[in-house]
Amino acid sequence: MKWCDACEFFVSREDGVCELCGQDRSGTEPLVDSRYRLGPQLGAGGMGAVYSALDVTLNRRAAVKFQHAQSTPLTAFKLQQFRREASAIAAVRSPHVADLYSFGLHDGRPFFAMEFVNGASLASLLSPEPKRPLPTLRALTLARDIAVGLSAVHATGIVHCDVKPSNIVIEEGTGRPVLVDFGIATLSGSFHGDDVDIAGTPGYMAPEQAVPEHVIVPATDVYALGCTMFEALTGRLPFQAPNVLRMMMAHVNDEPPKPSSVEPALAPLDAIVRRALEKSPSERYTTALAFAHAIESVIPAFERNRAASSDHTSTAPVGLRALIIDDDPMLVRLATRAVETAFRGVDILVDVANSGDEALERWQFAPDLVVLDLHMPGLDGTDTLALLRERKRGAQMRALAWTARPVPEAVRKFQALGVEQVLQKPLTFQKLVAELRAIGLKKGWVLPAELPTISGGNRG
Ligand SMILES: Nc1ncnc2c1ncn2[C@@H]1O[C@H](COP(=O)(O)OP(=O)(O)O)[C@@H](O)[C@H]1O
Ligand SMILES: [Mg+2]
Repeated sequence: MKWCDACEFFVSREDGVCELCGQDRSGTEPLVDSRYRLGPQLGAGGMGAVYSALDVTLNRRAAVKFQHAQSTPLTAFKLQQFRREASAIAAVRSPHVADLYSFGLHDGRPFFAMEFVNGASLASLLSPEPKRPLPTLRALTLARDIAVGLSAVHATGIVHCDVKPSNIVIEEGTGRPVLVDFGIATLSGSFHGDDVDIAGTPGYMAPEQAVPEHVIVPATDVYALGCTMFEALTGRLPFQAPNVLRMMMAHVNDEPPKPSSVEPALAPLDAIVRRALEKSPSERYTTALAFAHAIESVIPAFERNRAASSDHTSTAPVGLRALIIDDDPMLVRLATRAVETAFRGVDILVDVANSGDEALERWQFAPDLVVLDLHMPGLDGTDTLALLRERKRGAQMRALAWTARPVPEAVRKFQALGVEQVLQKPLTFQKLVAELRAIGLKKGWVLPAELPTISGGNRG
């Protein structure tokens, strides 16, 4: 079906003339699925190309992925299989899995339209070479969230089969990790036989994916997530190999390294990673949820320097709550005034903590807005933020960070937690107010200044 940009409506006449405005729209590009207009390409890999797209009917962003032309012709059987898998993916409900909107054929090629996650892939945050780890707490909460998402996927009878950093997008603004790319997802219990073109990505491939005739099960994804977690924690893959074959052999035969062999402080994670990377699927965590719980249970071991959390519960907030965390009293004063100025007329309570530890001790709930420094005594800014995101309402919290040296390394760590901006010190009052207002506008906390105020006399 064609679309009339002027009328913002479908053209349903055969001759392509818009019945509303009478303009000839026959020459316009056909939309994918009668609604998706393709934008720039987001990525292209072995299995297809992904485009950002606009659903013109709903004016909502989406991502559209086309499967590459197959080496073998698209048989009716193959199409049935795609459709079955798509319908299983569409049943998944999880904030950590991109929603599937539709599936169909466009110019003879299968496509999937899905939720567009505005953010950066985990792969892009771990690159460039040499790869660097993420802050441990962020790596753990991220792996835990993806494990929870995977458990929702597995519940529909599907195995993702390609869990890896480039298939995890971290949403800008919230830090929500989302699993994408169901390009090679398979029904659980199926075999990887010779009809399968590519069966995963070598660095993250479970032994049963590397060897034909083995059954694919949820624990196959647990293994790949184990590799992903290892990489996020240490900056490198569990196995290194000069070619694909050797890499597969390593997954099948070699003892996986311990995270503590790369970084001694990671020792509390050795047993968990070991179990996720067992050669035999039945010896791993057999469900993604069990893996999630195991990760969850070890998070407290990494809350370094934290006093045991006290129990004086904060009362439920009435208006907005902002929290400023910095050990520098000058900056605390500057930021307090900036928040008050940026949100003048808004019911907002500004609180201050002199360290991340203090903030976590005193705050049971995540604030609506946190403004914080990177380097502080005790927990640093990224660990503090990772733990605040864990608190109730933590996923909705907006964050603004600053540091004396916003080098890519620092920015990347904060990006992995969904901060809005990483500002460079010294800060000016105006800059801070402007950044805070921008956040307030985006969230609808403040109204655009241009809006006429309804005050006094000459109305009506
Ligand atoms: N739904 C989505 N929202 C935002 N970005 C996406 C989405 N799906 C994919 N991407 C981006 O596009 C890249 C490639 O997409 P993917 O589906 O992994 O295709 P492939 O691996 O076959 O190239 C991803 O690494 C990710 O950065
Ligand atoms: Mg991919």
